[in-house]
Amino acid sequence: MSVAMDTGGARKERMLIGGDWVDSVGGGGLAVENPGNRSVIAHIPRGGAEDVDRAVAAATEAFKTWSKTVPRDRGRILLKIADAVEARVEELARIVAEETGNAIRTQARPEANGVADIFRYFGGLASELKGETIPFGEHVLSYTRREPIGVVGAIIPWNAPVMLGALKIAPALCAGNTLVLKAAEDAPLGVLWMASICQEFLPDGVLNVLTGLGEECGAALSKHPGIRKLSFTGSTEVGKLIMREAAARIVPVSLELGGKSPSIVYPDADEDWVVDGIIAAMRFTRQSQSCTAGSRLFLHADIFDSFLGKLADKVKTLKIGDPLDEETDMGAVINEKQFRKVCGYVEEGIKQPDAELLFGGMPPEAGPLSEGYFAIPTVFANPSNDWRLAREEIFGPVLCAIRWTDEEEVIRMANESHYGLAAYVWTHDIGRALRAAHAIEAGWVQVNQGLGQSPGHSYGGTKQSGIGREFSLEGMLDSFTQRKNVTVNVNTPSGPLT
Ligand code: NAI
Ligand code: MG
Repeated sequence: MSVAMDTGGARKERMLIGGDWVDSVGGGGLAVENPGNRSVIAHIPRGGAEDVDRAVAAATEAFKTWSKTVPRDRGRILLKIADAVEARVEELARIVAEETGNAIRTQARPEANGVADIFRYFGGLASELKGETIPFGEHVLSYTRREPIGVVGAIIPWNAPVMLGALKIAPALCAGNTLVLKAAEDAPLGVLWMASICQEFLPDGVLNVLTGLGEECGAALSKHPGIRKLSFTGSTEVGKLIMREAAARIVPVSLELGGKSPSIVYPDADEDWVVDGIIAAMRFTRQSQSCTAGSRLFLHADIFDSFLGKLADKVKTLKIGDPLDEETDMGAVINEKQFRKVCGYVEEGIKQPDAELLFGGMPPEAGPLSEGYFAIPTVFANPSNDWRLAREEIFGPVLCAIRWTDEEEVIRMANESHYGLAAYVWTHDIGRALRAAHAIEAGWVQVNQGLGQSPGHSYGGTKQSGIGREFSLEGMLDSFTQRKNVTVNVNTPSGPLT
């Protein structure tokens, strides 16, 4: 994304408000770039406070009917959306690869397929919006209803834009809320495409999708008095701002924020399949732009050198290049700002006297890779935990390898972080694996695998990685409904029978 307008042949997109495709009231626009070659591929409206007002008004109006629609009928619509996305999933995969720089084979296509899965999963859950009855006694009927909250304001990032967009749309709408969703300025095109499919089936105003900058459009959405629930995925820094806005109006908030997740490899796991798992957990093929990236690799001292040797051999075979090329394993970093940020960490690591650059380093300054924001997989050994490199979320393919010998010590180091999103444990010994899994402070621990989230799994963070869960039935109930209790005295004197 860049604020400058380009008058070339790039297509012009509009936002979805109240069933209409519109420009921003202010009339401004933003350019969307392909980070693989820095070309402008589209222009989007630069939404602002007035657009937020219009969208919230449309969602408020639509809520009156949508919230009263029989849940099963809402679910049926989500199932139709799932089928329609699936029928045209390749279009979505290409859009996502082009705008995010994520390689089509390894990332964008699986993500696009995941969107259909998410709509299908939540479509099937509509009848599960059940309440409870409370046994206060024979003369009382006390029951709870799971009611929708109202207009939800959701803000999403660019790293897995359509998966994260679907994860707001499907549960929020299934539960009977209406939604104003702000797409990330760097990757709005797949989300707008998804919105156009949704709009074929949804009543006007149930889903509204805005584009624009965080400080303008996002901030206005988070402050809007008509928003009854805020749901945010992105940086911890912005998450704190969102929570402050939520506090000002006492609205519930869900936050899915950053991470610096540990991967602990035990001495019995110096094996090829574990190397593959570490590469998957680190999300190297998404340029490690993932909140769950296992970016702190704790290797037992006995296997430290041998494991890193194997890891280097495998990572070097990853093909970096054009995101739309089927041969590509790893594409480009989203934008110049993030690219420079990643390079800054690498530069700093190279300068640190104690850390050893095992492989990777600064990106090439000439040749085809210099035409896009291509970072190369990089591993530093022994960075001190005091350094930024070892503590901060880099959101790029920079892995820190740390030596350990004692189990208690490695758990302590793993927990020495203000984040607590994901973790990975690698060993054949089930007792050790589960001891570690229970001791690690994280919302999600995987043992002997480094996979992504699936619908049904209550995904989310502890500590500064976030609050709330959205990716499951319980997540939908907790994050997108509110309980109302109705208590009835059944024992009132009967009136005359008429
Ligand atoms: P960001 O948190 O600034 O952006 C995420 C979304 O929030 C975008 O839609 C953006 O427009 C919006 N936003 C930004 N400022 C806002 C504000 N003041 N009020 C309301 N909405 C606002 O993330 P950014 O700048 O793209 O990336 C910076 C770092 O954040 C990354 O290096 C990474 O460490 C982290 N990040 C984490 C993600 C995750 O999945 N947990 C996703 C994206 C970034
Ligand atoms: Mg930002």
